[in-house]
Amino acid sequence: MQNFSLYNPVKVIFGKGSIERIGKYARAFGKRAMIVIGQGSARKNGYLDKVTKQLKNAGIEFTVFEGIEPNPRVTTIDRAKKAAYKFKANFLLALGGGSVIDAAKGISISYFDPESSVWDYVYLQNSSKKSQGKTLPIIAVPTIAATGSEMDQIAVITNWKENKKLALFNEKIFPSLSIVDPELTYTVNKKQTAYGGVDIITHISESYFNSKEKAPIQDGFTETIFKTVLKYVPTALHSPKNYEARENISYSATLALNGIINNGRGRNFTMHAIEHTLSAYLDIPHGLGLALIMPSYLRYIAPHNPEKFYDFAVKIMGIPQTGNREETIRKGIEKYENWQKDIGITETLSNYVSDEKMLRKFARETIKIKNSKNEYIDSVIPLYEDDIVKILSNRRQQQDLCNR
Ligand code: NZQ
Ligand code: ZN
Repeated sequence: MQNFSLYNPVKVIFGKGSIERIGKYARAFGKRAMIVIGQGSARKNGYLDKVTKQLKNAGIEFTVFEGIEPNPRVTTIDRAKKAAYKFKANFLLALGGGSVIDAAKGISISYFDPESSVWDYVYLQNSSKKSQGKTLPIIAVPTIAATGSEMDQIAVITNWKENKKLALFNEKIFPSLSIVDPELTYTVNKKQTAYGGVDIITHISESYFNSKEKAPIQDGFTETIFKTVLKYVPTALHSPKNYEARENISYSATLALNGIINNGRGRNFTMHAIEHTLSAYLDIPHGLGLALIMPSYLRYIAPHNPEKFYDFAVKIMGIPQTGNREETIRKGIEKYENWQKDIGITETLSNYVSDEKMLRKFARETIKIKNSKNEYIDSVIPLYEDDIVKILSNRRQQQDLCNR
């Protein structure tokens, strides 16, 4: 495996009812909290009440910033930062999905420079400030199992004016504490549960598929988490209050991007790079964008990493071993594609974009953002503009798979 450094300071309190302990833990962060929520689910489902009741009991004053949108926007985050500043918050309490937690990270990093915008800090921006200074502590309470933002140092921010969705990486934005209570995910609807499942799967499998490194420990984690999500998402769709399903999906999400699973295999998050361009233009949910790309992407790169794809087919998708490797790989990818359909993701990218010019534009944008030479993005092979267009237009690669 490759050399790596591993740092993850997040304290995680995990399990049924853990939200009831938030008052006890929050005291250590100060007397004034800004609670950050999305567009209403936390209020509607009673999670906000649970949290505010405990903060009151713990003697913590709070204000609520409501309205973080899915694919959180620079303008909203900057407004929230001003509200936190006005309130003189000692810490942020992010109660919601990845969008809410990422927004809190954006507020946190720009908080001590009141005139700045979060966009100044975003990775690869020319004017990136890459804060070395102080940040505001964050308590994260995820209400959806998906991004793993509760245990990573990443915030993904959308600049709608520029049609750009970029990731901000900074060790200072790890949440200090994450309270992961799988019962909060009972109310997540079928679509979002499915999208969350695909997101988790991509988080633990991008570096699995995109690398030829021999990393049996990491690959074993990937194979176990992948199978866990394949098994439990359908259960959660059928029985939204099945705790066993929700706890296993939640823990999979929390582990996925914490560094342990992916380090040592390279960090090519190629599907993510392409998806971030899609949602910067189409404003679609992140997990859906990934699902629209993934089967086609896998077919495209499989011939370049056959050993890994054979393992995927046999160990993860349960395809019986036969002498015909290409056939086994093809069946594995098909079985995965059918799983996506079975969990209700039946759309294709052509439902959203039919114009090839637009696909080409997405390909160019993705390359521009990812690579300063403006030629390709990294995967197990370099992917040039034409390759990305082929992936996006879902030109079937069966022929290739058989011929190599
Ligand atoms: O806004 P509200 O009303 O809260 O509703 C949300 C939203 O409509 C709803 N929801 C959340 N929890 C719920 C619930 N509905 C009912 N019951 C609950 N318990 O779900 C919808 C989607 O929420 P969102 O936060 O957008 O979903 P997700 O967690 O998938 O986050 C997506 C964002 O995170 C970024 C994505 O690009 C996207 O912007 N990512 C962040 C990463 C990170 N920080 O590490 C990595 C990921 O790869 C990803 O890029
Ligand atoms: Zn993701």
